[in-house]
Amino acid sequence: MSFRHLIDFGDLTRGEWDELYARSAEIVKDPAAFQEACKGKVSCNLFYEPSTRTNFSFQTAMLRLGGSVFGFADPNSSSVAKGETLKDTIKMVSGYADVIVMRNPWEGAAKAASLYSNVPVVNAGDGGHMHPTQTMADLTTITQLRGKVDGLSVGLCGDLKNGRTVHSLIKALAKFKDIKFYLIAPRELAIPDYMRSFMKENGMWSVEVTGLDPVIPQLDVLYMTRIQKERFLDPLAYERNKGIYILTRHKLERAKPDMLVMHPLPRVDEITQDVDDDPRAVYFQQARFGMFARMALLSDLANQPRMEDREMGPVEIGRHPVCTNPRCITQSEHYLPPLVRTIGGVDCCAFCDAPLASFS
Ligand code: NCD
Repeated sequence: MSFRHLIDFGDLTRGEWDELYARSAEIVKDPAAFQEACKGKVSCNLFYEPSTRTNFSFQTAMLRLGGSVFGFADPNSSSVAKGETLKDTIKMVSGYADVIVMRNPWEGAAKAASLYSNVPVVNAGDGGHMHPTQTMADLTTITQLRGKVDGLSVGLCGDLKNGRTVHSLIKALAKFKDIKFYLIAPRELAIPDYMRSFMKENGMWSVEVTGLDPVIPQLDVLYMTRIQKERFLDPLAYERNKGIYILTRHKLERAKPDMLVMHPLPRVDEITQDVDDDPRAVYFQQARFGMFARMALLSDLANQPRMEDREMGPVEIGRHPVCTNPRCITQSEHYLPPLVRTIGGVDCCAFCDAPLASFS
């Protein structure tokens, strides 16, 4: 594979995804054939935020490939608690590991880490922004269970504003043909503007609705999400929106007989327990496919040669953060360079994708 870091699924080409998927499919068929693919390699897993599936599946993926893992699941157990910058932590651990897997509450943190890392960096979730390896799990699940992704009607339901899994999945589905999106969210939790611009720029078919029931019969995939309590700046807004969508067995009666019910998990109350026994509920399989997809990724990235500092060159020092998004990594790590990228003709922060003028 020709990419070095996995920060945003949008950075992959369709060909690169097809290659990754082909390897995941081989691993699903015969995991034992890959048990030495990362022999002697070491992964550093830095989890600044809680995680069950992502951290455990990355760990087990590396162990099943014959490699080993170190890191933290609580930043307070490391020098982060003493005030160490992200840059310094990354410079240190990239001297010890062959690949870094990082989850961080700041949007754009993985991109920032990639500027200073001598080894590949994988974004395991950066705030409410992106989560590309969950998308690898999602696409692997859809392809394994439905045979293809092209032509599907996909309902994304819940917190589409703060749900990073949704943003990554939309970016990925732009690489497929004839996808129809039903974006099901209360107005307060609709997809962010940068995602709307992205969909427009890519000519993607979508409708935004507030009700799940009217659209459920149209869907081939229903992707439920949790209302992301930890991302709400206003606790009252969370209270207004919690429990807003609850998928029950009764509601599923109107859905297609082969619709997939997916969820990145953890669930709170958005899918009732009685849905678990419906054959359309595939969220636990989805979590297992995630491990195989991560094995495919690590088997490539952990085997890439380390880059020495002189090969990487200096990174410009930032003087003023150009981005005013309060959740952007540039707000906490002030040395970061002011990087800009254009999305749908609009200048955006290259770390968090927020339009540069939007918060001023
Ligand atoms: C998701 C995440 O962390 O964004 N979980 C996961 O990685 N499987 C979804 C969530 O927390 O709601």
